[in-house]
Amino acid sequence: MTASASATIDWDELTRQAFEVRERAHAPYSHYHVGAALQVASGRVFVGCNVENASYGLSLCAERSAILQMVAAGEKDPIGIVVITRGPIVGTPCGACRQVLAEFALDMPVRLAVEDPAVPARMTSLAALLPDAFRAEALK
Ligand code: THU
Repeated sequence: MTASASATIDWDELTRQAFEVRERAHAPYSHYHVGAALQVASGRVFVGCNVENASYGLSLCAERSAILQMVAAGEKDPIGIVVITRGPIVGTPCGACRQVLAEFALDMPVRLAVEDPAVPARMTSLAALLPDAFRAEALK
């Protein structure tokens, strides 16, 4: 995580967008709604929510949904992400999402929060969540 990267992020606004997209989560099976808002270096924000399926294993997480939006828009430089889950426990990105995020940023600040204002948001980083990620360099 670099100070300059996090300095360009309006965390309150990114958090607002993550809450907003969480409203559109399709989670009729788990009832666990997740919203993610990802900012890239150009300043653009991409959002994603979890999209579950009657064939449970096909469900897509909110973080990967946001990454797909980012790549489809031609952007590949995320600098920070907010993930909103249900409380009271502040959810962390699953292992698959950590690896997919690490494809585009070895490290970046990650803000985790829930809807209950009594539960403090948690600030962490991708490198803390996924140390020693598998990288494309290993394929050379
Ligand atoms: N989920 C996410 O969207 N992100 C995560 O990092 C963890 C889990 C979703 C997947 C599923 O729709 C629901 O939460 C319960 O696992």
